[in-house]
Amino acid sequence: MYKIAVVPGDGTGPEVVREGLKVLEAVAQKKNFTYELTDYDLGGERYKRTGETLPDSVLEEFRSFNAIYLGAIGHPDVTPGILEKQILLRMRFDLDLYINLRPVKLFPGVDTPIKDKGPEEIDYVVVRENTEGLYAGSGGFLKKGTPDEVAIQESVNTRKGVERCLRYAFELCQKRNKDKKLTLCGKTNVLTYAFDLWQRTYNEIAEEYPEITRDYAHVDAICMWMVKNPEWFDVIVTDNMFGDIITDLAAMTQGGVGVAAGGNINPEGVSMFEPMGGSAPKYTGQNVINPIAAIAALQMMLYVLGEEDAAKLVEDAVKKVASQDMKSMAAGRMGYSTSEVGDLLADYIAKA
Ligand code: IPM
Ligand code: MN
Repeated sequence: MYKIAVVPGDGTGPEVVREGLKVLEAVAQKKNFTYELTDYDLGGERYKRTGETLPDSVLEEFRSFNAIYLGAIGHPDVTPGILEKQILLRMRFDLDLYINLRPVKLFPGVDTPIKDKGPEEIDYVVVRENTEGLYAGSGGFLKKGTPDEVAIQESVNTRKGVERCLRYAFELCQKRNKDKKLTLCGKTNVLTYAFDLWQRTYNEIAEEYPEITRDYAHVDAICMWMVKNPEWFDVIVTDNMFGDIITDLAAMTQGGVGVAAGGNINPEGVSMFEPMGGSAPKYTGQNVINPIAAIAALQMMLYVLGEEDAAKLVEDAVKKVASQDMKSMAAGRMGYSTSEVGDLLADYIAKA
């Protein structure tokens, strides 16, 4: 029996989570596992109503779940930074979700803006460090508001944090068993402290994995290769900030934010899974948003929970529905409503 915390969140979050849960029910019946859902009201609406973002008690309760399934956090009426820092980043830091796992997989039949590249070429995973770097919040102002103002934002990289992230990436690369190639994405030519640590630690761990091909690319160059030669990549590992940036680029190559999902993983504790798209407020309540990203997040959740057969079945359903049924991955142009896409997936699973 899996205990799953559900955070539908803001904007279109609840609409896509609803379809994710529809798929969960279908696949649980098919694969004979049981689960219990507990809903949490977090996000912009609650903040506007009560001033609360993520109460300590909720954070404590989260620790007792097997997984957290999140729709979207973000509200047009709330100053940028508040909900992000106090909900999303706080969950990442306080629950020590130190891996941000972002599969980049182009499903058959899904449009990519990259000419002449298809599902064969666009199939890799980005492992983003999720608790340190520029996101650590280290720095501050001097003489704020004066002409002499100084703003400092430091990138924090600990040996422990870098090592556990790299170890996860090496293990994943091994398990994936594709090209057995792990690309470290950094900026060793300029950030000569931070990425010196990354590079040294990478080289040390690589000794334990002689079958994995070593690879390195600067972050600016990797942006070129991800567009020009995505087939070069198997697993990419990088720091928090670079990972944030390159995974948005990667998401576009796999069909956009309607498709891309992320896992915020603590391999020793509870993990959180979310679509990458955000709350998309302008589509709220219209039943037009693409739920595929939320289903991909669910699929990752099942995989991490150890329900590998169930995860595979969900992926098959997504491949089929995306390639044969849906007309587009863009909101409002799918040829189906949000709930109809969920129905198609649940139906495929039930009949499998
Ligand atoms: C992401 C998002 C977040 C990040 C924001 C919303 C804080 O862009 O999950 O990639 O920067 O990590
Ligand atoms: Mn981002």
